[in-house]
Amino acid sequence: MTADSRPRPTLFVIFGIGGDLTWRKLIPALYNLFLDHWLPDNFQVLGLGHKSMNDEAFLDHLRQGVIQLSRRKEIDGPHWKAFASHLTFQSADFSDPQVYTRLAGQFQDLDEKWGTGAVRIFYLASPPGVMETIVELLGQAHLSLERERTRIVIEKPFGRDLASAKSLNRMLTEVFSESQIYRIDHYLGKETVQNILAFRFANTLFEPIWNRQYIDHVQITVAEKIGVAHRGHYYDQAGALRDMLQNHLIQLLCLTAMEPMISLEDNEIRNKKTEVLQAIRPIAVDEVPAMAARGQYDAGCIEGDQVLDYRREKNVSPESVTETYGAVKLFVDNWRWQDVPFYLRTGKRLPAKVSEVNIQFRPVPHQVFPFSPGLDRPPNRLLISIQPLEGILLRFEAKHPGRPLRLTPVNMGFYYQEAFKIPSPDAYETLLLDVMLGNATLFMRGDQTEAAWTVISPILEAWDRSAPSDFPNYQAGTWGPKSAEELIARDGRQWIIPSLQQYEEVLQRCTAAEGKE
Ligand code: BG6
Repeated sequence: MTADSRPRPTLFVIFGIGGDLTWRKLIPALYNLFLDHWLPDNFQVLGLGHKSMNDEAFLDHLRQGVIQLSRRKEIDGPHWKAFASHLTFQSADFSDPQVYTRLAGQFQDLDEKWGTGAVRIFYLASPPGVMETIVELLGQAHLSLERERTRIVIEKPFGRDLASAKSLNRMLTEVFSESQIYRIDHYLGKETVQNILAFRFANTLFEPIWNRQYIDHVQITVAEKIGVAHRGHYYDQAGALRDMLQNHLIQLLCLTAMEPMISLEDNEIRNKKTEVLQAIRPIAVDEVPAMAARGQYDAGCIEGDQVLDYRREKNVSPESVTETYGAVKLFVDNWRWQDVPFYLRTGKRLPAKVSEVNIQFRPVPHQVFPFSPGLDRPPNRLLISIQPLEGILLRFEAKHPGRPLRLTPVNMGFYYQEAFKIPSPDAYETLLLDVMLGNATLFMRGDQTEAAWTVISPILEAWDRSAPSDFPNYQAGTWGPKSAEELIARDGRQWIIPSLQQYEEVLQRCTAAEGKE
């Protein structure tokens, strides 16, 4: 998926250098790539933004971001200074055509100075409202024309429904070709998410049983402890379905359900994922109450801290009906998955930050072992843990030593921290490097984003039509609303509660092992 060569000389233009994304993610990721010697010698970041700050004050601001948020904080030695020499800033009004004419001149100068046609990346880290202006003016200044070496990176939201996603894609493809457009879903950059493909297709063991004959159902959980923090303004317009489910969770579903690819070529993998989306059984609007559940958090207590209810968060309407929790049941109509439910859920202010995919296998066809009193006979389960613990855990039955004869579920686990003893790169490091290398595998293609909107459109429509009467309907610090329990209970199943204690134990073990080395 990722090539292992260094990128060609690159000019990395960030629209929105003063924004939160640049501060929290882009600069720390670029800095780590620099520390790992992934950046080419001829590399320049040109940061464009409204804030007029002198270079020194600005550099200090970015440096603080690295100190607070980078996975490595080696900032005092010569490294930061060397990295900073690649950063330049300009104050710019994104609606001024002259900004773009100036850019064209700067590109040319750098190509001459570096003696090569450098890769040009436009990273839109600016508010979604100005995207259209930027794209249009880039086009007018002919800055999209060197197709092979010019790329544009855009962040979600890719629209707020199918119609707006289509018009966004149309607008983008009027100026850039699809192969130049890199739509970020940062979940795809996470090591554990990429490992789903390695696990499935680099091993013979699981693929033969990865189907409706052996798998009872799949659960995908992306739970967060945080509330909306300082993003109330955006989130209150979006909600859990648009913010998380349409992108991150659906992508996890695609990787779990897709057919084997025949190569690592980016369009091959993206085609296979798109096929999954196309096979998802459409939900009729009147079926939505049976197939989906929504919730909004009330005040509560998380790890001993009292937290506010959603409606009292900053920049959130006191009468808000925006969902902070969403659960949905989907079916993938194809030979492999017919009638196997995929249960997806995500929410804010849940008891823990946990992302995981659980594959629940069918029970054995004939049970010869005696049941132990008070104990269920849990079927085999494969847990793909994305965070906080990065690893894979297989649960199976084992004979308990001695008499009387009884069985106990045990776990066999692989944990990145233990197995590799090196920290995983942050998702943005992987994604930014891939953009520089021109590898689009881990990015969303236009048709994928539209297909994902198609999947959730009926739910959005049903929820828009009837406002919830019971919000807020789950207490902060709990696993979500009763309606979500009922959604899965109607099928005789229940949500798998992430084993936080087990996570804690493994993390402690890994930290202790690191300490000994
Ligand atoms: C973002 C959402 O895409 O993902 C946020 O907009 C959410 O609301 C975040 O908090 C979660 O990402 P991660 O990597 O922390 O699980």
